Amino acid sequence: MMRITETADLWYNNAVIYCIDVETYLDSTGSGTGDLHGITQRIDYLAEIGVTCLWLMPFYPSPRRDNGYDISDMYGVDSRYGDHGDFVELIRVAHDRGVRVIIDLVINHTSDQHPWFKAARRSTDNPYRDYYVWRADDPGDTSDQAMFPDEEDGIWTLDERTGQWYLHHFLHTQPDLNTANPQVRDEIAKLMGFWLQLGVDGFRVDAVPFAINQRTLVGMDEHEFEEPHDYLRELRGFLQRRASGQGSAIMLGEVNLPHEEQVAFFGGENSDQLTMQFDFFTNQRLFLALARNDAAPLAEALRSRPTGLRIESQYANFLRNHDELTVDLLDEDEQDEVLDAFGPEEDMRFAGRGLRRRLPGMFNGDPRKLKMAYSLLFTLPGTPVMFYGEEIGMGENLDVPGREAVRTPMQWSSGKNAGFSTAKPSQLSRAVTHGPFGPEHVNAAQARRDQSSMLHHITRLAKRYRESPELGWGDVTVIDTEVPQVLVHMTTWENRSMVLLHNLGSEPTIVPFALEDLEPGTPLVDLLSEESCELDEDRMTRMPMDGYGYRWLRVANEDDHRLL
Ligand code: GLC
Repeated sequence: MMRITETADLWYNNAVIYCIDVETYLDSTGSGTGDLHGITQRIDYLAEIGVTCLWLMPFYPSPRRDNGYDISDMYGVDSRYGDHGDFVELIRVAHDRGVRVIIDLVINHTSDQHPWFKAARRSTDNPYRDYYVWRADDPGDTSDQAMFPDEEDGIWTLDERTGQWYLHHFLHTQPDLNTANPQVRDEIAKLMGFWLQLGVDGFRVDAVPFAINQRTLVGMDEHEFEEPHDYLRELRGFLQRRASGQGSAIMLGEVNLPHEEQVAFFGGENSDQLTMQFDFFTNQRLFLALARNDAAPLAEALRSRPTGLRIESQYANFLRNHDELTVDLLDEDEQDEVLDAFGPEEDMRFAGRGLRRRLPGMFNGDPRKLKMAYSLLFTLPGTPVMFYGEEIGMGENLDVPGREAVRTPMQWSSGKNAGFSTAKPSQLSRAVTHGPFGPEHVNAAQARRDQSSMLHHITRLAKRYRESPELGWGDVTVIDTEVPQVLVHMTTWENRSMVLLHNLGSEPTIVPFALEDLEPGTPLVDLLSEESCELDEDRMTRMPMDGYGYRWLRVANEDDHRLL
């Protein structure tokens, strides 16, 4: 029997997560740069949408060669964003409004300006030398492994002073940490302990496979670091101990790998490593499905979700995030299909492997398609994660180089600088978007007043999602139907079920489907409209759908005390 009380325990299984770039959210001082106090001002806005967990992107001191993911002081707060006092106030206000806060934890690398690296490169026998990964021989051509091929031609850079090469999977200004070194592991644990003590509810763990991969673990024998996943287990154990008493804290990992490889990062059946992982595979299959107007690629992805994981392991779903929309898990011809459909022009692409666009531009602003896509986000089994501005349907700015195109200032109003800042436009740390999805057409203030807006749509979805834990907690079954453009899936948790229909095509259609395990006459109640139906004597129904339509049908059940 489902206990609603469980949802307050494993809270992340039906959270609504919202990612914020502090730099571009709200500038409360007129400096031209967003800040922590600005976010605090908007907690009520976020709580009203139904957000239950914020994910703050890196706000630490940083030379910002990689939007703050190159950290020079992991304990600090970039003074442009405020100080530790502002951080604690933010946490406090968020918690008061029932919103948890997780922060980025970057364990794969630091900035080359971090005191550890500065010390490490002084001499080969410096005590910090082994905090990073060095080699004395020429690595040769490693260009095929560089994560930012437009900027780096390999993953090793020669350090002139000591005549050795250091490892960096990302920029050469982001040297990889040697996570096989117990001292580094102790440092990371201490760091987690620090932020937990300040009240965070967990971490979004950056670039996890890189951080524990074999190449990084060069000191393996020396340190008897037998199995790289032991390190994740160690971090999880530490998190569990330190966070007890304030509710369970999470590690939401960035692991861009196929489903079968993700299992190990959850800790398999033991569930003792990452608490959550983004589902990159389903994300990419979803865009392939949207490009083809055919539900099959998405259905396949859902069917390939690992089974047998414990309830403590949870997938996080997303449509877009702060990075490029990567398609690297698709076959080459599938990649081309997605890139051609949603980024036909060269400057919409990033490093040949992804799109530096937000959804509205990719969908040519079709509100029906956008709303259907967000309905999918909230009904795919797992926990939805949104990137700031998605809730209003804001656009990207292709004039801004690289991935920053999708990290432009939040569009609060149609006023000066989109209501983001009172500074002179030339002083903004990043330019506001223009065009059809710019602030004159798309902004939060206007959306609040418009019942048909994306903001109201998302708010409604978030409410229904929160009261339907079977969506976040349940097991998924894809239901067969003969209409290829429609995905019909069912999620079941204990004795509660929902049936979800999404029409990926632009034309209306009628969708016949059967629910073999239910009794004839079972009512299916639509949570988002007046139209409900019941199964006939063959346990079948025929559901009319609009073009890009979606339906959330709850299987009525006498033991269920929830309002219908
Ligand atoms: C992650 C982040 C990305 C960053 C990279 C290196 O992939 O999402 O923004 O560039 O790690 O830290």
